[in-house]
Amino acid sequence: MPIGVFDSGYGGLTILNKIREAMPEYDYIYYGDNARAPYGGRSFEVVYQFTLQAVKRLFEMGCPLVILACNTASAKALRSIQQKDLPLIDPEKRVLGIIRPTVEVIDKITKNNHVGIFGTPGTIASNSYPLEIAKLSPEIHVSSEACPMWVPLVENNEFENEGADYFIKKNIDNLMNEDSEIDTVILGCTHYPLLFSKIREYLPDNVNIISQGDIVAESLKDYLKRHPEMDNRLSKNGECRFYTTESEDKFREMASVFLNHDVDAKHLSVE
Ligand code: DGL
Repeated sequence: MPIGVFDSGYGGLTILNKIREAMPEYDYIYYGDNARAPYGGRSFEVVYQFTLQAVKRLFEMGCPLVILACNTASAKALRSIQQKDLPLIDPEKRVLGIIRPTVEVIDKITKNNHVGIFGTPGTIASNSYPLEIAKLSPEIHVSSEACPMWVPLVENNEFENEGADYFIKKNIDNLMNEDSEIDTVILGCTHYPLLFSKIREYLPDNVNIISQGDIVAESLKDYLKRHPEMDNRLSKNGECRFYTTESEDKFREMASVFLNHDVDAKHLSVE
C-alpha cells in the first residue's frame, strides 16, 4: 500500500523529492491534476471538489495515507475532507496537509517574530497561515502576499527567464513594504522552490527563506513513528508511480524539470 501524494500540478514533486530522499524505502503514487491546474485562483467549492476526487482515487488505488502536497488544497479542502468525508469514506484512512507542519517550525527560525508568507491568491485569501500561526505562536507578526503569476511561470517553464524577474521583484517589494522588519519568509506554495534563486536575489540578504520539502518530509517521518498502525500498512519496495490528468508526454517533459530525471506517467481522465 503506497503513500499518495497529491498536487494540482507539478509543484508537489518538490515535496515528493524531499519525502523520497528522507524515506526512500516506501512506495508512492503521485497524482497531478495538471489538466485543471492552477488551483490558486479557484473558489473554495471547486478546489474542495477537485481535491476530494483526487483523494478518493488515491484511496481506490490502495493508498491508506494521502499527503496534500499543495498549500491551496491544504488551505481550502483539508479540513472538510478530514471532518466531513473521511468518516464516511473510511475512518481508517488519513489525509494530511502541509500548512500545519510548516507553521510548527516557524517560531524556531524567526529571531524577531516578523514573518512573511508568499502564496497563491487562494492560499492567501483563506488566511490559513496567519490563523494557524496565531494558534501556535501568537507573538509572531504575519504579513502575506498573493503571487498570482508565480505558479503560471513555473507551470509554463518560464521561471528562469527574464520575465519572471519582474513579477518576483514586484511581489517581494510589496511584502517588504508592508513590513520591512521581516526576517523570515515562507514559500507557501509547492511550486515556489523552483523560483528559489530569483527570490533569494531580490530578498534582503538577512531574510531566511523557508521552503517546505524538508519540513514536510521530517513531519511525515515523525507521524509514521507515532502511528505504527499506519506505518505497518505501508509497502516498502522503493517504488513510485505517477498519474496525471493531462497528457502523459507533457507530464514526462515537465516532471523531469522538477525531478531532474525521467519518469513514466499514466493518464487519468478528469471525469
Ligand atoms: N502548488 C500548489 C500550492 O502549493 C498550488 C498551485 C496552483 O495550483 O495554483 O499552493
